[in-house]
Amino acid sequence: MANVRFEHLTVRYSEHTVFSDFSLEVESGQILCLVGPSGCGKTTLVRALLGLNKPETGTITVGERVLFDAKRRVNVPAEKRNIGIVFQDYAVWPHMTVIENVSYPLKKQRRNKQEIRERAMKALEQVHMTEYANHLPSQLSGGQQQRVAIARALVTDSDVVVMDEPITNLDAKLREEMLLEIRMIQKRLGATILYITHDQQSALQLCDRMAIMRQDGSLCQCGTDEDIILRPADRFVFEFIGVSNFIPLCVEGGRTYLDCGEKIPFADLPAGVDARGKEMGVRLNDVVFDRQSPIEATVTSRVFLGSEYNYFLRLGQRDIRVQQSTLDARTFGMVAAGERVGIRFLNPRFYDGKGAMA
Ligand SMILES: Nc1ncnc2c1ncn2[C@@H]1O[C@H](COP(=O)(O)OP(=O)(O)OP(=O)(O)O)[C@@H](O)[C@H]1O
Ligand SMILES: [Mg+2]
Repeated sequence: MANVRFEHLTVRYSEHTVFSDFSLEVESGQILCLVGPSGCGKTTLVRALLGLNKPETGTITVGERVLFDAKRRVNVPAEKRNIGIVFQDYAVWPHMTVIENVSYPLKKQRRNKQEIRERAMKALEQVHMTEYANHLPSQLSGGQQQRVAIARALVTDSDVVVMDEPITNLDAKLREEMLLEIRMIQKRLGATILYITHDQQSALQLCDRMAIMRQDGSLCQCGTDEDIILRPADRFVFEFIGVSNFIPLCVEGGRTYLDCGEKIPFADLPAGVDARGKEMGVRLNDVVFDRQSPIEATVTSRVFLGSEYNYFLRLGQRDIRVQQSTLDARTFGMVAAGERVGIRFLNPRFYDGKGAMA
């Protein structure tokens, strides 16, 4: 397995620039999840890696091997790139048995029969599917089919495996299982995986590192899940990972207020932050009930979700959302719709009009 480096890549479809000067590294033996809104260019990047489109500028390197270099006119053909793929709409071939599916890439490489059989069985063993070798895909569950697709991606000893939205079509429970499965297979094999998704929850569950793309194809942050959650680079990242409240601030006569249709005095501004033109972002579970707090809101609704309560509160003329664990609910006591309740904001972040951190 090897690392993957994209450097200064530009891909255009006639007039439309999908991304330009794009750089990213997937470290060897890690899962990097590339996350971004629909249409930002994730699949375009995958296609560039696979050799299915030709970037205008930049280089793509896997380990020591240069697959693409615009300046030096290097462009290794797709079939020689040695990259495993698992696509959402490119799962398994329905007319072939499991073993035939997994053997296919080796057949294309014209390996001898015995080697094909041995390597295909080994790949099936890695995903715990040997006993299904002679089944047809229609006789397998969605998750089992996806495991076959993973075995097929691994069978040629690929340097790297790319998974582009591989589990989007599965139901929620199966998706969860597949994420665990992919993680376990990856750990067992030490594989390098570039995993593409627009679902940040699966990315958080799966990744060693996560890269977040903006709609315009630029990369806004790359880091561990902790980096991304605790130190989001800007408002876009903060908002992309989890639901949040945003409350505008204003300053009058030297005092700071929450600007919620009516002005609510706000005394907890951290030193060094100028509130003018800023808004405050707070995660749902960082709004806490506190009877001592001078900031009061009215509960408009409460929903019990098993391990937590979801509240809607009316703060001045704004609606805000709060998540409270059942444990906190027990400590604090129940708050019912219609009640006034004091609130405090933990870990607030301050953004200017352009979404940059204050
Ligand atoms: N063959 C093509 N010709 C012209 N434009 C294309 C082509 N393929 C993709 N695009 C455009 O390039 C942009 C990026 O597309 P891409 O498929 O890479 O997005 P994505 O991030 O994978 O989105 P999704 O999450 O929906 O899969 C989109 O605006 C898309 O319309
Ligand atoms: Mg895509």
